[in-house]
Amino acid sequence: MSIAFDLPPAARPGQSADTIDTPSLVLDLDRFATNVDRMQAAADRRGIKLRPHAKAHKCPDISLAQIARGAVGICCQKVSEAIPFVRAGVRDIHISNEVAGPAKAALLAELARHATLSVCVDDIAQVDALAAATEAAGSRLGVFVEVNVGQGRCGVTDPAAMLTLVERIARHGQLTMRGLQAYHGGIQHLRGWNERRDGAARAADRTGTFIARLEAAGVRCDVVTGGGSGSVEFDLGSGVFTEIQPGSYVFMDADYGANDYAGALRFEHSLFIATSVMSVAAGDRAVVDAGLKSMAVDSGLPWIWTNGKQSATLDYVAANDEHGIVMPKHEDLVGKLPALGSRMMLVPGHCDPTLNLYDEIVGIRAGVVESVWPVSARGLSR
Ligand SMILES: Cc1ncc(COP(=O)(O)O)c(C=O)c1O
Repeated sequence: MSIAFDLPPAARPGQSADTIDTPSLVLDLDRFATNVDRMQAAADRRGIKLRPHAKAHKCPDISLAQIARGAVGICCQKVSEAIPFVRAGVRDIHISNEVAGPAKAALLAELARHATLSVCVDDIAQVDALAAATEAAGSRLGVFVEVNVGQGRCGVTDPAAMLTLVERIARHGQLTMRGLQAYHGGIQHLRGWNERRDGAARAADRTGTFIARLEAAGVRCDVVTGGGSGSVEFDLGSGVFTEIQPGSYVFMDADYGANDYAGALRFEHSLFIATSVMSVAAGDRAVVDAGLKSMAVDSGLPWIWTNGKQSATLDYVAANDEHGIVMPKHEDLVGKLPALGSRMMLVPGHCDPTLNLYDEIVGIRAGVVESVWPVSARGLSR
């Protein structure tokens, strides 16, 4: 027996933002546009290309808005993640990651028949697998050698290993050596501005060592790509990057909000979880309808957002599967607890895994729903 019943959408364009069903992911479109423009302008001022990362949002509408403002393409972190972006018309995608196994190499090679694709390597076996897959698919791939500039994740540490990879890439006609990827995620979330500046300077020095070795070997290196939202103002002035790949700046989650920004380049919180108070029966707390299934808390609990800033009276103190516990900051503020049915906006602790929990982003402007964008790459982690 089929049931003729569909879940109504959480929001439709034109309705008041106060009536969006909860929990929902809400984007303040003015703040979002400010962030997109600000990053593009910063890159343009330095003559450096912006290739924003799509892993933070997984939403083709966002990438298309960034490209319309001047971004040269996008980064994805996974091969399957790139598929909805290719479908939506994004024509230049860098997989800023290594690819393991023949199935993924084959998928990447197939996708490369439909768009300009590049990928990272840090091992000869990856180069050979990509060559075999592109030969079978009749496609071409750009290849970046990833270098380890301090993060200790992927990437070769020894410049001699980089040169071995460059030589191997050159043996395969379907592969083109595009340049180096030098990304250091650990720097992004150092709280102090000076700490981040110094960390980025050390990473840039290491990157410079790899570039010098390439030049000494007579290898052309057109692109040096890297950088994230926490280090970008230093990366832009470092002299080593030709391209930056920040992602979270479009949203600014609570974890990025906790960084100290002494410099001129800062971004606005634009992403919120709309939640409703579903119980006040306990008396000393409010229980809201957004818990662990509505947000990632790996980088900390969300902030409660009131009147354009973090609430001075209330804290979100615990996330259960489907419930969130909101407490007053001091006992004498119990009277300030929100009433049953009232609504709140939360700034999620970590945007990337939070987006992966939602089908849609509800865009609002001046208190009205303007857009509902699908998070098309949600769950695509292969
Ligand atoms: C390789 C790479 N580039 C860029 C980024 C973007 O970083 P963020 O979202 O912090 O700006 C990430 C994030 O993890 C990354 O892994």
